[in-house]
Amino acid sequence: MQQTMQPFTFHTPTRISFGEDTAYGVGDIVAEFGASRPLLVTDANLLKAGLLGPIIEALREAGIAEPVIFDQVPPDSDITCVRNAVNIARAASCDSVIGLGGGSVLDTAKVVNIGLTFGVDVMEFEGMNTLTSKLLPFIAIPTTAGTGSEVSAVAMIKDHVEHKKLLFGSRFLFPDVAILDPKLLVSLPPGLTASTGLDALTHAIESFVAMTKNSPSDALCLESMKLIFGNLPRATKDGTDLEARSAMLVGSMMAGLSFTNAGVGIVHALAHAFGGRFGTHHGVTNAIFLPYGMEFNLEAVSDKFDMAYNYLCVVMRDSAEPSKSWFVSGKGDSATNLIQAVRNLNSACGVPSRLKDIKVPELSETEMIELAEIAITDPAIMFNPRLASIEDLVEIIKRAY
Ligand SMILES: NC(=O)c1ccc[n+]([C@@H]2O[C@H](COP(=O)([O-])OP(=O)(O)OC[C@H]3O[C@@H](n4cnc5c(N)ncnc54)[C@H](O)[C@@H]3O)[C@@H](O)[C@H]2O)c1
Ligand SMILES: [Fe+2]
Repeated sequence: MQQTMQPFTFHTPTRISFGEDTAYGVGDIVAEFGASRPLLVTDANLLKAGLLGPIIEALREAGIAEPVIFDQVPPDSDITCVRNAVNIARAASCDSVIGLGGGSVLDTAKVVNIGLTFGVDVMEFEGMNTLTSKLLPFIAIPTTAGTGSEVSAVAMIKDHVEHKKLLFGSRFLFPDVAILDPKLLVSLPPGLTASTGLDALTHAIESFVAMTKNSPSDALCLESMKLIFGNLPRATKDGTDLEARSAMLVGSMMAGLSFTNAGVGIVHALAHAFGGRFGTHHGVTNAIFLPYGMEFNLEAVSDKFDMAYNYLCVVMRDSAEPSKSWFVSGKGDSATNLIQAVRNLNSACGVPSRLKDIKVPELSETEMIELAEIAITDPAIMFNPRLASIEDLVEIIKRAY
């Protein structure tokens, strides 16, 4: 019997421009918004890797004065860095923001834009739906294929004093334009290529089974899973493989559109708790928790895992990936095969499989309960398809350790 379709709202206002050298279009886009003094938010690694070159050249060619550059974003941006960037941008009378970097840079740039637009401390707008009007023009140019921040309406900023992540969420945080240029990812090292790609896979898998999933998000997730399973080992092995880089960039953007409209789940809730406490990278932490989170959810969504696995088996036949042994395991039923395929993909990409491998110290029962208490109040968990107790979360932490 056909299930009744539950009501949904699907909102995705970001204009997406994909292709090699699309970064050179940034000047025209800034001009199109009527802006002339953008703040360019980035980090020191990207400056060193020469990624600012095309952006500055494009702005100059469009007749725009040199941007004000803020290149001090640390991995896992913090609130102090946001405040510093806001001060610089306001002093220079910036009228728009460009974020060039991974999720840390893009999230920083989003929150900086709040402070630049309203001229108040950004903490006044922490939380969900606290913004009531439009921000200055914001262009997101991702240099990792993972977070989906270039099309999402949220930003996560670390509070180093409280050791937790601050969430800013609003429809006004959607970037106006996302420029996806695969050439900007060539310098991304293999370890970060793999871990950021697995963040994207986690978005696709969690939003595919989330409580608020819907038909558009389902379609995005399936295509995203296909692109990621089929290309992540290639992109990890050879960073200059622009075909694999392109597929990853599009796959992670599609997963971003999906989780923005359908939510994530228990894996992200745990990754946020551990990232906040131990500073572990978001992508690696998700990659470690993903198979355990899927095992926990299996009894609630085995039909969806089964469907995804069977779909992927068909579409992967034409994948350009030469070795798919890590995908087709074939020993269990389809739903458990999907979980095994995730484990195989993690190991094919050389991503750590245990929390202890990423320097998480051995935890006492009380510490695990404390982390579980943080995860259970994380907004991500409310979309999870199976209700989790503190005991369930502690059990997952023990298994992932
Ligand atoms: N807003 C969202 O929707 C959303 C979703 C998921 C995660 N996040 C956030 O994103 C952050 C993680 O972002 P990330 O995984 O993209 O990593 P990241 O932005 O922290 O970058 C990791 C490292 O990679 C380097 N790097 C990035 N691109 C490079 C390139 N092309 N060449 C060389 N080096 C490069 C950076 O300099 C940095 O040192 C976390 O703070 C997480 O909370 C946000
Ligand atoms: Fe994520």
